[in-house]
Amino acid sequence: MRSQVGIIGAGPAGLLLSRLLQLHGVDTVVLESRSRDYVEARVRAGILEQHTVQTLRDVGVGERLDREGLPHDGIYLQHPGTRHHLNFEELCGRKVWVYGQTEVVKDLITAQLDDGPPLLFGVSHVTPEDVDGGAPRIRFTDADGVAQVLECDVVAGTDGFHGVSRPLVTAGTSGRLWERTYPFAWLGILADVAPSADELVYAWHPEGFALLSMRSPSVSRLYVQVDPAEKIEDWSDDRIWDALSTRLAVDGWSLRTGPVTEKSILPMRSFVSAPMRRGRLFLAGDAAHIVPPTGAKGLNLAVADVTLLAQALVRLLTEKQTDLVDTYSDKALARVWRCTHFSWWMTSMLHRHGDDFDAELQLSQLRRVCSSEAAARELAENYTGLAVDL
Ligand code: FAD
Ligand code: DHB
Repeated sequence: MRSQVGIIGAGPAGLLLSRLLQLHGVDTVVLESRSRDYVEARVRAGILEQHTVQTLRDVGVGERLDREGLPHDGIYLQHPGTRHHLNFEELCGRKVWVYGQTEVVKDLITAQLDDGPPLLFGVSHVTPEDVDGGAPRIRFTDADGVAQVLECDVVAGTDGFHGVSRPLVTAGTSGRLWERTYPFAWLGILADVAPSADELVYAWHPEGFALLSMRSPSVSRLYVQVDPAEKIEDWSDDRIWDALSTRLAVDGWSLRTGPVTEKSILPMRSFVSAPMRRGRLFLAGDAAHIVPPTGAKGLNLAVADVTLLAQALVRLLTEKQTDLVDTYSDKALARVWRCTHFSWWMTSMLHRHGDDFDAELQLSQLRRVCSSEAAARELAENYTGLAVDL
């Protein structure tokens, strides 16, 4: 097998990169270790920045998003006694969309299987080789158990946090890793019940953070802060609804409850690996960095990475110019660190940790964001997404 770009991983990063390259006449093969059903059912992010939405429209997969996605002008920030609306449209002229990562992935897979380059599910033993030279290859075993070799000009490592690509980059470069784990986690549920608010509610509470989100007019997505050591079996649906009702409470409002269809505990970490390149192997998305979910940045950052990478690879492969691949890592990392800071800041402001002194600092910061237009605009600009070149 041969293709110009071999892409490892069919998450949002790999699928979108393949689509962007295809539209510029660069051929790709995407290798995914999981099944199509598994990849399409994995419940993850739900908030798309304006430029993410525009990118999906530009590559021809925006039709269902425009029909079913929910545009939101802002969010609510809450601490006991106060639920304050931040209007992003007014603060910075941008909005966000509620549209699940599962739906983005389904749309990209459908488009690729319709008229796109090969997308192979269920592969194993994926091993990039000779990435320091001009002609790398990827060895793998296909879904029928047959050993295969994909010869390519470039390998894209979009295989997420646990993939094979990042360790290869780390081993072959004098790079660095930065990591922060947080002393809390999110317990997330999906529930068949209409959302109890028109836009997302991020709530600080003495018992811990809570977030009211949604996936559609009839499906709610909610999260509560828990200890990372908590066991999901210890959280009955009633216990989860009680915690959510307490932490999200404001006068004159109540939380609608309904059947829980999915629940899981998500650890929270910040992680950055640099550089995002070794020779002809380029990293993008969670393969290179992880943010805690509080700022809804993970998926959007993956989209920003591959937008930049696609431009660089098109220039390399069709114009034989190396300038954009040479600046890819530094340019991508500038945005990565901006989003890493914003996600860390939102996480630190909203989650109960430390002592009463920390709590008063958090409340002071929240009151500042809710009362100062400058402070609110800083949150709005980051949340809705900064320009690709910052
Ligand atoms: P991924 O989506 O991880 O895709 C990588 C793909 O590579 C996967 O399909 C994987 O199966 C495949 N793969 C891995 N190894 C190999 C291999 N060796 N060979 C072939 N294929 C391989 N972000 C938010 O903004 N909000 C959220 O609420 C949120 N919730 C999350 C919940 C969870 C449990 C996780 C893990 C992440 C969450 N995120 C959230 C982050 C967001 O989902 C990610 O940032 C986003 O998925 C990154 O996309 P990606 O394509 O880089 O990586
Ligand atoms: C969702 C996840 C987030 O991390 C966030 O900040 C907002 C919403 C969600 O899954 O809906």
